[in-house]
Amino acid sequence: MSSVIVVGSANVDQVFRVERIPSPGETVLSTGFSTARGGKGQNQAVAAARAGAPTAFIAALGDDAFGSDTRAGLIDDGVDVTGVRSLDAATGTALIAVDSAGENTIIVEAGANRLLVDLQSADAAAIAASSVLAMQLEIPLETVIAAARIARAGDTTVMLNAAPIRDLPDELLSSLDILVVNEHEASHLAGERDWRELTEQVPVVVVTLGSEGALLLRRGLDEVRVAAPSVHAVDATGAGDTFCGVFAAGLAEGMELEQALRFAVTAASLSVQSYGAVPSIPLRAQIDAATPR
Ligand code: RIB
Repeated sequence: MSSVIVVGSANVDQVFRVERIPSPGETVLSTGFSTARGGKGQNQAVAAARAGAPTAFIAALGDDAFGSDTRAGLIDDGVDVTGVRSLDAATGTALIAVDSAGENTIIVEAGANRLLVDLQSADAAAIAASSVLAMQLEIPLETVIAAARIARAGDTTVMLNAAPIRDLPDELLSSLDILVVNEHEASHLAGERDWRELTEQVPVVVVTLGSEGALLLRRGLDEVRVAAPSVHAVDATGAGDTFCGVFAAGLAEGMELEQALRFAVTAASLSVQSYGAVPSIPLRAQIDAATPR
């Protein structure tokens, strides 16, 4: 049985380091280039596994070299890849620019991720057998809704990281136990309302605040703010995913929300100190060593 199951995307990240992000119509020269495993789903699955949770991943890769490398990498990280398909398509690709302040812009070509539309009975059984289902929005929305429905029918906690943000149907929001968003995503979903009002639809809302840490909003309870340690950030790519995967792992392990939040904030602060999405995700021993007691 998996403690955490992630239904989501896997990409190959093509990362360009630049002094600053180019403006429209402008060309800039890169100061470095690398290719790394990424995609919000893969990043969260790896983060959960490295944090110590038995983790399974349901995803779609292309039948190309990137797909084979990704599968091998997931296996190396101890992720159960039974639900990872190899389809007749290109593996998803992300074009990422990271500036000298560690901020990024990302363009995703979904490739095989957009073909993840066929949850099978084995996928449903794996979701139902897991403690926490973690999802994002880089795969078709119908798959996210279907997976949430399966989880809701059992005891699996449903967590959605609403990234990249889009309008979400009430049916999905009302099937969530936990919503994780950054400030921009929170404002998109709340519209004119205060972020706190999102808890009328989802009982637990976590707003990640970058270098400021994270905010926990719960229906009917006072908000809790967890500060992030002050670190030298070189690349924020995948920090939110590290947060989500480690938060899911903490909850699956039985941590209380606030403890899991501190655990996840610490992990995210470690991830921004090195480059790349998957390459920067910390191991459990590193998170434990850096977690304030
Ligand atoms: O959240 C970071 C991720 O967004 C990158 O790894 C990239 O692949 C995109 O999915």
